[in-house]
Amino acid sequence: MRRSTPPTRARWLAGLMTAALATGACAVVSLVAATPASALANGLAKAPPMGFNDWNSFGCAVDEQLIEQTADYFVSSGLKAAGYNYVNIDDCWLLKARSADGHLVPDPVKFPHGIKGTADYVHSLGLKLGIYEDAGTKTCAGYPGSLGHEQTDANDFAAWGVDYLKYDNCNNQSNGSLADYKARYTAMGDALKKTGRPIVYSICEWGVNDPATWAGDIGNLWRTTGDINDSWGSLKSIIAQNAPLAQYAQPGAWNDPDMLEVGNGHMTDTEYKTHFGLWAEMAAPLLIGTDLRKATPATLSILLNKDVIAIDQDKLGVQGQVIAQGNGTMVFNKPLKNGDRAVALYNSNDAAATMSTTAAQIGLTRSTAYSLKDVWSGTTTETAGTISAVVPAHGTALYRVKAVSDYRKFAPATTLGVTSPSSYTGADIGIAAGATTTFASTISDYGRDALTDVRLTADAPDGWSVAATSAWSAKRVKTNGSFATGWSLSSPASAQPGNYGVTLTASYAYGTHRPVAVTRHVVVQIVPTPPHGSVALSDVTWVSATNGWGPVEKDLSNGETAAGDGKPISIRGTVYPKGLGTNAQSDIVYYVGGKCSSLTTDVGIDDEVATKGGDVLFQIFADDAKVADSGKITNTSAVKSLTANLTGVTWLRLHVDPDGATTYDHGDWAGPQLTCS
Ligand code: GLA
Repeated sequence: MRRSTPPTRARWLAGLMTAALATGACAVVSLVAATPASALANGLAKAPPMGFNDWNSFGCAVDEQLIEQTADYFVSSGLKAAGYNYVNIDDCWLLKARSADGHLVPDPVKFPHGIKGTADYVHSLGLKLGIYEDAGTKTCAGYPGSLGHEQTDANDFAAWGVDYLKYDNCNNQSNGSLADYKARYTAMGDALKKTGRPIVYSICEWGVNDPATWAGDIGNLWRTTGDINDSWGSLKSIIAQNAPLAQYAQPGAWNDPDMLEVGNGHMTDTEYKTHFGLWAEMAAPLLIGTDLRKATPATLSILLNKDVIAIDQDKLGVQGQVIAQGNGTMVFNKPLKNGDRAVALYNSNDAAATMSTTAAQIGLTRSTAYSLKDVWSGTTTETAGTISAVVPAHGTALYRVKAVSDYRKFAPATTLGVTSPSSYTGADIGIAAGATTTFASTISDYGRDALTDVRLTADAPDGWSVAATSAWSAKRVKTNGSFATGWSLSSPASAQPGNYGVTLTASYAYGTHRPVAVTRHVVVQIVPTPPHGSVALSDVTWVSATNGWGPVEKDLSNGETAAGDGKPISIRGTVYPKGLGTNAQSDIVYYVGGKCSSLTTDVGIDDEVATKGGDVLFQIFADDAKVADSGKITNTSAVKSLTANLTGVTWLRLHVDPDGATTYDHGDWAGPQLTCS
């Protein structure tokens, strides 16, 4: 089992947030008047700190060579020139015992020249050095903590030339009270102040005692969540926890949603751009957490994006506020010093979403038009007011928006949307092998200029066919107008289940300019053929499966981490050879194509957590209708049987709802049997 803090709390908060978002209709959030705590007056971190920390990619394997090579790389790669200046050492830099006279001792094998030697080297490159300690008896990795030794340790840090301290919360001997948290973190803050050396003070209490409401008086930044890891689930949960705290940030006092995972390999480029872009939008510290010596060009192009860094470091020092949210999407708005706005359209869903806001909603002064700089593509378009994008699954569109009058030098902002009656999961279109379906494309113009000579084309893979079923060209699409085209798409009978692409292209002219083209990659999924007769559901290929911790398991319980790490499914002593092991929140989708009549299954919380906890709801959805619901099932509930009528149904979805917290929610679909024709 995972350790109980901080991840358990992160899981609890994530559960609450996921539940709230899943049920929330699209709501516009009004701007709350900012009442930040007064910032620590040490004059530091006027913009969110930028730099590196070794923990996310090296854990305890930190040493002088790594820190010095990283510092060298800051200079040679342009990271220093881009603003990254803190090179920070995390846990495990010291010996397991203090010296006879009570001082912390840098590990002489890892740091042969001491922290002082490393600091001197880093300073010689015009960079700064950070270090890690803990407001407890031991650090999280079991090295001596600073509780009760604050002044001695702060004096040593200052004498060594340390410029930044991350101060953790393990082994804290605390009664958990706010007073104790404030006292422990204030003790080190006061000690740092007494040294007279400017040292950025980073409070790391994992968001336990709502630090956003008090830590700004004591430190320069404070962690708002449990530890990040290099996964989409972690990123999504941290964004949900950090986003509502915008009002507490100001120059010298920042929410810290944890260090960056960009480049560590377990998320897609789209997800890493969401990570980096939203950290900038949320005025978060940008502390690189990857092995820079092995960084790919793709990683570096994210970390070095000047437009994104400028949003993070903007002098106004305002964290982007969520101004609308619902159905898994959030619209963020960050006012910038020169009057521009940084707008982030964040889509946490597993399917693309068309998202919009307006210049009025983000508080820009009235203007003939506005320019939209897409910070990732670098292209600038103009809009009469609507800011809209088709945002890919897990993606974030990030624009710098400016009021302009000379809009004619930019192409009009457009979106190319796709709707399909047969989309249900992450794909835009779902289709069986050898079948024909329909979809519609819509080109919308938000620019001040009209689109002229508009033409749509579609390209399908070899063996497929796609053809327009209605007009595919239009003379003119005016401001805030749109033009829709119907399409018919056929797949070859030999197509195997999986994702395929259809490329839609819209070309148009505007003003006196030559035509430009925009494209949309339409994801088409070949769904698995429904089974015949009565079969164990775990032998049927699903269309998609999402799960809270680790993957959904076939014929095993959920072990929380890797595929196949569960145990035989067992509920209240009954062992089931077949079934699906999940961990809420989980959704498993099957294509049954009108060919199946029923599903019967037992459900319950697995015996592996019987003495620990767990509390879920098992629900079966047929297309969009809920056709079975277990009600509350806990770790002590008896086995429950569910039956769902699937007559005429195309899509079957098995949903395990966390019913609040996600802790120990090992929900088993035990012995599920699907009956088809
Ligand atoms: C805690 C912190 C992490 C890292 C480790 C080091 O978990 O939250 O960021 O510093 O300790 O042990």
